[in-house]
Amino acid sequence: MVFIDEQRLHLGAEAEVWLGSWMGQSAIRKQRRNRSWRHPDLDDRLGRRRMIAEARLLVRLYRSGLNVPLLLDCDMYNQQLIMSQIQGKPLIDILNDSSISDETVRDILNNTGQSIRMLHRQAVVHGDLSTNNIIITPQNEAVLIDFGLARIEYETELFGIDLHVLFEILGASHPHRKNAIDAVLEGYSAYENAHGPAKNTPGGQPVGMQDVLDRFDLIRTRVRYHG
Ligand SMILES: Nc1ncnc2c1ncn2[C@@H]1O[C@H](COP(=O)(O)OP(=O)(O)OP(=O)(O)O)[C@@H](O)[C@H]1O
Ligand SMILES: [Mg+2]
Repeated sequence: MVFIDEQRLHLGAEAEVWLGSWMGQSAIRKQRRNRSWRHPDLDDRLGRRRMIAEARLLVRLYRSGLNVPLLLDCDMYNQQLIMSQIQGKPLIDILNDSSISDETVRDILNNTGQSIRMLHRQAVVHGDLSTNNIIITPQNEAVLIDFGLARIEYETELFGIDLHVLFEILGASHPHRKNAIDAVLEGYSAYENAHGPAKNTPGGQPVGMQDVLDRFDLIRTRVRYHG
């Protein structure tokens, strides 16, 4: 497999991400990093398992029509995924850019909520909904990336937690963007209202929109009183 690295976009604890070219087209290479504190054999097995899970979900979501990176290659031996690049800026940069109006941000957060509901309607919890893992395209669409911790699930609580993670990040890192979560929740319910209840998936009925929103409220109250 020929991938030519051009620019390193990210160096994290779990992965290193490069922009480059693959078979002549511009693409992203996500390389898993070894965790030195784990036994190498265990690390290899865990790493491969997680990488395959991420690759599977990418394929499944892409096929279901979601705007997610297109998986181009899954190289088990070198523990790397090659995928299409999503053009845009991470949501964290948009929220920190004071030249972007509150009105535009509202629109973007609304689209973010819609994308999250689209994901949840496929019975997939993201598991790490940080503002780094949401890319905003030049058309202000919100594209979710990084399915390294994502899973197929049918438990309401896990979907509520997905929203709560984003809520906490919005409050802690972007307090100047007032009521940000409300715009996300509006988009979340607007999508379902426009499309009707989610269709059955092979594993069962995905958790309904109202159930997730109610659970999110409950989690928010629980955390407020019990820390
Ligand atoms: N398909 C993609 N298109 C555009 N940018 C991407 C893409 N995939 C990853 N990136 C960029 O690389 C960053 C890190 O990728 P990703 O979130 O998938 O890794 P990670 O699992 O969070 O790694 P770590 O846990 O080590 O921090 C993203 O926040 C994003 O900026
Ligand atoms: Mg990430």
